[in-house]
Amino acid sequence: MFVFKSLLVAAAIASANALTSSLQQITANFGTNPTNVQMYLYQPTALASPPPLIIAMHYCGGTAQAYFTGTALAQLADQHGFLVIYPQAPASGACWDVNTNATLTHNGGSDSLAIANVVRYFIANHGVDATRVFATGTSSGAMMTNVLMGAYPDIFAAGSLYSGVPYGCFAGPNAWNSQCSTGELIMTPQQWGDLVRAGYPGYTGTRPKVQFWHGTIDTTLYPQNFWEEIKQWTNVFGVSQTPVTNTTNDPQAGYSRASFGPNVQGILAQGVGHTVPEHETDTLNWFGLSALVPGGAAPAPTTTAVPTTTISTPTPITPIPTTTAPATGATAAHWAQCGGIGWTGATVCASPFTCQASNAYYSQCL
Ligand SMILES: *[C@@H]1O[C@H](CO)[C@@H](O)[C@H](O)[C@H]1NC(C)=O
Ligand SMILES: *[C@@H]1O[C@H](CO)[C@@H](O)[C@H](O)[C@H]1NC(C)=O
Repeated sequence: MFVFKSLLVAAAIASANALTSSLQQITANFGTNPTNVQMYLYQPTALASPPPLIIAMHYCGGTAQAYFTGTALAQLADQHGFLVIYPQAPASGACWDVNTNATLTHNGGSDSLAIANVVRYFIANHGVDATRVFATGTSSGAMMTNVLMGAYPDIFAAGSLYSGVPYGCFAGPNAWNSQCSTGELIMTPQQWGDLVRAGYPGYTGTRPKVQFWHGTIDTTLYPQNFWEEIKQWTNVFGVSQTPVTNTTNDPQAGYSRASFGPNVQGILAQGVGHTVPEHETDTLNWFGLSALVPGGAAPAPTTTAVPTTTISTPTPITPIPTTTAPATGATAAHWAQCGGIGWTGATVCASPFTCQASNAYYSQCL
């Protein structure tokens, strides 16, 4: 059995009505945790067998609770039967450590080791499917996703990053790296790839497949970082930097989805700033979890992974609406985006939902 400490936060209680379970702090000793990262678990009542696990990481200044209520991952966990762990960044300012050598190195320490250890603990003690562990995050959480992809390729099967930077781009003594954030840290694909390979020296196993989302008018983490991420991971996978396919208006108007084969995908959002809202159902599709159902055995990866050939004709995978912008004047549905910097869609939510800010860039009908 899990051992939990009750998390008495008003927002959790309010949102618990719509969910089969609630967010719980993990109090078990899950292994070395050098920076004292707090971990919070969403475990739906009905689990897939064995259950996959998604690590979901918040933006700077965020909390596990805010990311839990601000994304639809918990609702999707109810539908599909996976676990979600929301780690909480311990640093003042609540940004993830994406710059120290420790965090960037396999078993080197810091925040990334804590996350690796909680995953190892859940695989060893709670039956998590070791072949289906995933990471996603927004902004600082996206940077941290890249850190995990680079330093722990043995643990993670895939990542989905909303408005991040390449693995190693922030490396150095300071928590913030303005050369990287402004998109002025330009390297060759080989140099970027070498950084990833140095994250776990000698590692020869499979690498996690990576999906990048980025807005073209992002002035916090400039969109050049999107192109540097593509250089980095196409080099890691040894594939061309020229997309195999690039479909426009996918998954919504103004977005384009470029595929570099089965392991690298870049989605550029025209006119979107920092950050691109999480498209959770799309991320689940990338993780190969769309067909997963609670109770049943997890389908084999080959049958659930999104083949590149279907990318030009995406299939609707769940009734939960994503963040497609409704026409101005319309109302936004449950879980849809309803506000944030740069948002031009509906700002009024369909009854009985209200528009709640996750951060300055993203409000959602909850
Ligand atoms: C980075 O950290 C690893 C693991 O602690 C260590 O072996 C390595 O020497 C460090 N590299 C640098 C450049 O400090
Ligand atoms: C995909 O196509 C769009 C629209 O032409 C373009 O803006 C974008 O840069 C392309 N993406 C890639 C990765 O080449």
